[in-house]
Amino acid sequence: MEDKQKLLDKIAEELEVSGGGPLGGPGINAVFGEGNPDAQIMFIGEAPGFHENQERRPFVGQAGKLLRKNLAVNGWREDEVYITNIVKFRPPENRDPTPQEIEFFRPFLDKQIEIINPKIIVTLGRFSMYKFLGIGVSISKIHGQPRTVGGHIIFPMFHPAAALRDGTMMKAFEQDFQKLRQMSDAKPEPEPEAKKNEAEQLKLV
Ligand code: URA
Repeated sequence: MEDKQKLLDKIAEELEVSGGGPLGGPGINAVFGEGNPDAQIMFIGEAPGFHENQERRPFVGQAGKLLRKNLAVNGWREDEVYITNIVKFRPPENRDPTPQEIEFFRPFLDKQIEIINPKIIVTLGRFSMYKFLGIGVSISKIHGQPRTVGGHIIFPMFHPAAALRDGTMMKAFEQDFQKLRQMSDAKPEPEPEAKKNEAEQLKLV
């Protein structure tokens, strides 16, 4: 765990040194991500906003409060999970990130994923979902439906800011969180060989 933290610290340092590329400028700070380097679950949002830029921490504004409340309600401590964003510097006026900006920060996020190697990646909103499932998928159609990509279970969810704007999305957001809890608690299906052995053991009893 300590080694993973050291590796993450190194990437955070590289992010600082990058200056934020297309989004860097006076008063714009790096927001790398935070949480447990050994987390089984990683939440990936879109980009820092005003409060995140000020505190240099992801999801600390209104949307963050909703995310963190749902973590607690479903029995997770904040230090059990890892929280970060696709884009690591705040876009002006909180506008959508451009493809160039997403591409600039991609190596930093990819390294975070590689180091932490979470079992489940929860994508919060469209931009994060597109990274794993491709542009063109509809979040309204596939939220709450896990699929395996690149050795991780990808669990798409609405962005908490969208849930704050719309009661139907809020309901879906909370239901998907409960589903996520059940999924993360579920024991993995035994391998076929293990199943066979179990059946043979039962025959002996
Ligand atoms: N929205 C995001 O996508 N990320 C944050 O960190 C805050 C708000």
